[in-house]
Amino acid sequence: MRKRSLDDFHQTRRLPPYVFAQVAEMVKAARAAGRDIIDLSMGSPDMQAAPQVIETLRERVYDEDASRYSDSRGILPLRQACADYYDQRFGVALNPDTQVVATLGSKNAFANLAFAITAPGDLICCPNPSYPIHMFGFVMAGGSVRHLPAEPSEEVFRAAERTIRFSVPKPIALILNYPSNPTTITAEIGFYEEAVRFAKKHDLFLLSDLAYAEVYEGTPPPSLLQVEGAMDISVEFTSASKSFNMAGWRMGFAVGNEDLIAALTRVKSYLDYGSFGPIQQACTVALQDWQSITDDVRAHYRSRRRALHKAAEEAGWHIPRSETTMFAWTPLPKGETDSLAFCRRMVAEAGVALSPGVGFGEGGEGHVRIALVADEARLAEAAQRVGRAL
Ligand SMILES: Cc1ncc(COP(=O)(O)O)c(C=O)c1O
Repeated sequence: MRKRSLDDFHQTRRLPPYVFAQVAEMVKAARAAGRDIIDLSMGSPDMQAAPQVIETLRERVYDEDASRYSDSRGILPLRQACADYYDQRFGVALNPDTQVVATLGSKNAFANLAFAITAPGDLICCPNPSYPIHMFGFVMAGGSVRHLPAEPSEEVFRAAERTIRFSVPKPIALILNYPSNPTTITAEIGFYEEAVRFAKKHDLFLLSDLAYAEVYEGTPPPSLLQVEGAMDISVEFTSASKSFNMAGWRMGFAVGNEDLIAALTRVKSYLDYGSFGPIQQACTVALQDWQSITDDVRAHYRSRRRALHKAAEEAGWHIPRSETTMFAWTPLPKGETDSLAFCRRMVAEAGVALSPGVGFGEGGEGHVRIALVADEARLAEAAQRVGRAL
């Protein structure tokens, strides 16, 4: 049989190479050559999960049934803890049996829901730039994507309205992600109210990615489900990855409309058996202690954000202030237009790895994303190195 390339397979043909992998390759090569690289390219938290969470995992791993398959939709105490969190944090009441499902991270949840609700050729409206799974979850499910502006303004609805008017078939869903990765912009409740009105009028589902619910300064970001009637048409995704520094543990949640949650639960029941049981038990503890854990996470990112901005300002590298997510999102310095070329140059000349904006879609070109995944001193050093290279 002849050797096949990724272009020979129906699915992989539609998935362009991850742009971020190209920066990662450069980092690997530079480190192998003995260079000190400050890697701020991936949103992978470098801090530890809380001690009580780790301790719970350690204790429960010895349980007699720990190594058995768990429950695909998540054990009841975990779903209950997620419902309690929504009640305490957003004032949103959820039935843990019908409106909550625990997932293997929110990325996986998003892709599985896309798979559950998409027929070949279905259309969805997605912000651009956006976190790649928002588009490619639907592309992998056979759908097509129309772009929306990433900023939560009236322009989102005008663009969606144009898509609805001029597309056959009409879109089935609108994707929201605030606070946004990569732009760090957040939405106010008024925008969500408008989104619910718009979606009901046009018979659209709303899929809200709230992965950065707990990483903010100032006013806590709202949940779409706080809007009256949102539950009729919406699913919201949250994650232990960033809220609790548990990215590698692979725990996320989808909550909201019962019919959509049932569809996701059915698909998941064919694909997985849920996360490792002791991880679910440990995540239950994280959700029960969410206030103290997230206070600590926020304090760290606040201090890191300050250190980065101060050092960048002193080094002559202007980075707009952000108050949410674990990222800074900044236009390329004057004279630069190609975000991937800029990131390559920064690895080569400054020993700093950043994410090229184009990796988040064409709307991200002209920007880079900086992940706050190093301590204050390393972030300041990264800013100084970039400043010197500029
Ligand atoms: C907006 C957004 N959604 C989802 C995810 C993935 O989260 P999880 O680890 O829960 O799959 C990320 C990770 O960076 C993200 O930025």
